[in-house]
Amino acid sequence: MSGGPDRGRPSASGADSFSRMWAELAPIGRHPGTGGYRRYAWTGADADCRTWFQEQAEARGLTYETDRNGNQWAWLGDPLGSDAVVTGSHLDSVPDGGAFDGPLGVVSSFAALDELRHRGARFTRPLAIANFGDEEGARFGLACVGSRLAAGQLTREAAHRLRDGEGVSLPQAMENAGYDPDAIGPDPERLARIGAFVELHVEQGRALDLTGHPVGLASAIWPHGRWRYDFAGEGNHAGTTRLADRRDPMLPYAETVLAARREAELAGAVATFGKVAVEPNGVNAIPSLVRGWLDSRAADQSALDTVVAAVEAAAREAADRQGVDLTVVRESFTPVVEFGHALRDELAKLLGGELPVLGTGAGHDAGILSASVPTAMLFVRNPTGVSHSPAEHAGEDDCQAGVRALADVLEGLACR
Ligand code: GLV
Ligand code: MN
Ligand code: MN
Repeated sequence: MSGGPDRGRPSASGADSFSRMWAELAPIGRHPGTGGYRRYAWTGADADCRTWFQEQAEARGLTYETDRNGNQWAWLGDPLGSDAVVTGSHLDSVPDGGAFDGPLGVVSSFAALDELRHRGARFTRPLAIANFGDEEGARFGLACVGSRLAAGQLTREAAHRLRDGEGVSLPQAMENAGYDPDAIGPDPERLARIGAFVELHVEQGRALDLTGHPVGLASAIWPHGRWRYDFAGEGNHAGTTRLADRRDPMLPYAETVLAARREAELAGAVATFGKVAVEPNGVNAIPSLVRGWLDSRAADQSALDTVVAAVEAAAREAADRQGVDLTVVRESFTPVVEFGHALRDELAKLLGGELPVLGTGAGHDAGILSASVPTAMLFVRNPTGVSHSPAEHAGEDDCQAGVRALADVLEGLACR
């Protein structure tokens, strides 16, 4: 696989290298049936993405390393230097995710570096491109594991307790992929060396499209979380069990899904049951267990609290009525993130001022890192707003505008 220009040779423009890298990455982890991506943490597809990242780093003469949490870094300049400028995103995906969520940021980062070399930029600060591990949490249920560990927002003990749907533990999965799960933990010295982190990401709604601009800046990330609902009833025969004798967990689950929609509407929030597991999952059996995951988000914490409490109350009431036991576990939570004004204003100045500034309901590594490092985000227009779907899309011209914007930002931050 060819990467960027060799050290010492004039580099391809960011536009050329973006198109080449995009085509290289496109087949990795794409499901032939759905066209969606299945790049889950510590699987073969994830390993192939990681190999691709390492190759891009090495082809550009960058210093490649993985940190104690398995996040990948490609350094121009001294990895131990201070006040580094870091850009990047993630390469993993949700089930049948789109091509852009994550990879757009990583590919644009390498392309922006190529563009700066093409411009003959002289770097005065260390620059790194990062691929943060397990951003989506598709396999172990917790999002942003790599950045949370680094920032001390997830302990090693809690990470070691994570299990995937097959019961494989996170440490086992990391070990199988060739990483040391005992090494994971906070990385304050590394984060202290970072003076600015800028993540470019495809916008995941239509807010930017509605402004008519190809590129925007992030203001805030809504508070959001995931709650697991276990409805435990009694498995039995679908044909012979009288309705009156049933303890069917599907019924309170169904009522809870409707309650989530209703409560989200009332509070001006969003709430989704997008994942469900049924045991034994037989067409002619009353389930013994229905496990559903609530994802809920809102612009402010009190609206989110209201929705989450109301959905749980409705679920308990429905479960009681059916003689079903209910356990609710909060699997993850991320408070509101307000990106600092200083870095955002600096980016706006570097990009010529008149950029839209948008909040988002999507979570990002940038949100996690913002607690430790000055952080900003660039969004690239998504004309349909579709994301977490194979139909996710951003136009080639807009992606290229994103690369130029990121290059301008990195030039302003790292080359002054
Ligand atoms: C990540 O993309 C999330 O917001 O779920
Ligand atoms: Mn995502
Ligand atoms: Mn993402």
